[in-house]
Amino acid sequence: MSAHGDVVTPSDDELNTMSKEQLTRLGAELDGVELVEYGERYVPGSPADRRAERSVAKWFLLAALSGAAFAVFFIVWPAGYQDAYSGSKQTVYALYTPLIGITLGACILFFGIGVVALAKKLTPHEVAVQQRHIGMSDEVDRSTLGAEITDTGTKMGLVKRRGVLKGSMVLAGGAVGLVTLIPVLGGLIKNPWEKRGNSDLWVTLWKPVNGKKVRLTQVDGTPVRPSDLAAGALATVFPGVAGGAKASDSAVMLFRLRPNDQVKIRDGQDGFEYGDYYAYSKICTHVGCPVSLFEQQTGRVLCPCHQSQFDVFDGAKPVFGPAARPLPQLPIELDAEGYFVATSDFIEAVGPGFWESTQGSRKWGSHPKGSSS
Ligand code: FES
Repeated sequence: MSAHGDVVTPSDDELNTMSKEQLTRLGAELDGVELVEYGERYVPGSPADRRAERSVAKWFLLAALSGAAFAVFFIVWPAGYQDAYSGSKQTVYALYTPLIGITLGACILFFGIGVVALAKKLTPHEVAVQQRHIGMSDEVDRSTLGAEITDTGTKMGLVKRRGVLKGSMVLAGGAVGLVTLIPVLGGLIKNPWEKRGNSDLWVTLWKPVNGKKVRLTQVDGTPVRPSDLAAGALATVFPGVAGGAKASDSAVMLFRLRPNDQVKIRDGQDGFEYGDYYAYSKICTHVGCPVSLFEQQTGRVLCPCHQSQFDVFDGAKPVFGPAARPLPQLPIELDAEGYFVATSDFIEAVGPGFWESTQGSRKWGSHPKGSSS
């Protein structure tokens, strides 16, 4: 034995023969803590003890169920973004994001509540008066601390009893790991360069359906024809297909410029316009706000979020503000009945252009309308 402050510390041999509870109490004393009361919160195996275990286990089981539901929703649902905008899948698809958010949040929330309930209902009952100590911990402190931790587990019944609780904790821990791992492995962030041409990020509802070109329509589905716009006017139009007015990436600004406006065409996009009519994506290439404020004198259209301006007289190139990419132009023409249709989908990605950074800075050439590119 040796003296440790006011407490006589046992030798190593004596330490080895002491029970975990004795070591715990010794550790408390060595730290200047008096354990006034210390022991199991309930009589092991008593109805109160089992009730406490069940009330804790239920939170871990709920966390496990939520994590499993998240995995099912995330992996199994839905078959395709494009399909989901049409027919009966539209309603189902609308539930996708809320459901993965709710189940992910519920998993983490229930796990957290379970941990709190575990601490409140099953950790040993203890009333202690603790004195602060100074100096580094020595061997005896480390031994006693280790014993205290494992003895806590023993007294909580986590070593030899409480199979339901241990099982539910393992399930909940696995579920929390799963919901953390799934987004990392495959997930919430898509690689836009993968499957180019097929990826959701490269396809909008303007893509012809079975060879049939998609009409430009008003929000109520009314098709648009040239006489609907006065010179210098702007109309917001949507794909004339089911769910077209709700598709977040497909809204388009249809401009009718004035005959005397000096217009330039972006290289490679000759013929995308129809006469004085030009269609550009309404989704800002900065971070995706709807662009709408058109100044017909200057040909500038403004995004209200961060004041990016695009020059409609020059291929909707950005001329002010943080946007670094022109608004994609939708190629249009008239169908046999005289309504506007898109001749194809956009030829470049709509919306925020962060992934374009992999290409470095780009120049977007243009030439006066009527001259060759
Ligand atoms: S989203 Fe348009 S300027 Fe920022």
